[in-house]
Amino acid sequence: MGKNEAQAKYAAEHGLPWCESAWCAEERRHSNAFARIIERLVNISPSRENPNEPMVVTADEPAAVRHIISRQVVEWNASSSYIVMAAHSSSSDLRVLVRNIVRDEIKHLSILSSADAYLFGPRPWRRFVDWVKLGIGNYRNTRAVRSSGDLLGGNPVLAVEGIVAHLLTAFYVSKWLRTVPLRTLAAVFETPSQLPDFAAFSPLPDQQAQSDETLRKGKEKRLGLGRWDWETRTKALTQWQFEDAYARTIETIISAELDGFQGAEVRDSGRDVTIRKRIASLALDGHGLEAHGKRMLRSCLRDRLRHYQIQNNRHVLGREAIPVRREGDARTMRRPAIVAATEAG
Ligand SMILES: [Fe+2]
Repeated sequence: MGKNEAQAKYAAEHGLPWCESAWCAEERRHSNAFARIIERLVNISPSRENPNEPMVVTADEPAAVRHIISRQVVEWNASSSYIVMAAHSSSSDLRVLVRNIVRDEIKHLSILSSADAYLFGPRPWRRFVDWVKLGIGNYRNTRAVRSSGDLLGGNPVLAVEGIVAHLLTAFYVSKWLRTVPLRTLAAVFETPSQLPDFAAFSPLPDQQAQSDETLRKGKEKRLGLGRWDWETRTKALTQWQFEDAYARTIETIISAELDGFQGAEVRDSGRDVTIRKRIASLALDGHGLEAHGKRMLRSCLRDRLRHYQIQNNRHVLGREAIPVRREGDARTMRRPAIVAATEAG
């Protein structure tokens, strides 16, 4: 994950972990959990090794795009098939364990879908078509090369359940993704990684300059929504510029009239509904805005509320045991690892 071939080789030769991210740790935990489930159920001890080779990704844009889409499909397949497994788990302990893994996979899918939305704009149908096309290819490949391939699709009822699980997963992840504001995506994906680089791979000054320039251009293209289609980009950039221009007004309204969103950390909670109603009924006079401007201001306030909720979600608060962060402190958001390099799901 995030290593080039030379770095991966160096890590293997020096006994360093090939991947140190939380994401990889989860995938390793899954292979162990499944191995234990198989041991308990059928008394066979399977290998804990991941049977797939890490995917080698070149540094060009088409390869990166393919990688993001293929990772989404892998996580989509993993979460949907584990959902079917959880539904068929006969004991509650087994169901709890499988559902725990399902949640990790849905999280992976959500992170990659968010990366897709940030890079290419909201494109739920086109993304879904990309998933289906690649998913069918993966399915055929798995049937051909995996030892258990013949079992796939062998039971028509299970096949229908699998398809329904895939459709529902795609539907609910897309529904969730529609609620994530662009500002939140930018905060998540533009926060730099804090992982140290390998000392053995400090680049020469001119290589470093070249790499810095590539990174700068990439960031500029992302922030300018350079890969979005023209219409959605224009709309999103207008909204973004409006939010910048009215930043102080927005801050004042949030603290003076919306209680800094305190207590509305959970979406669809009573407090969230109250704050949303309050946003809808604010007079918003005295800011020199016409009806269209007022609509944009309300939309900014709703986005800020959602940003606040994602930033202060109960998992983040529970894990870090810190007080609720103040709205606007986007820099404290952690950047999730966005790319996993195995095809394991
Ligand atoms: Fe995964």
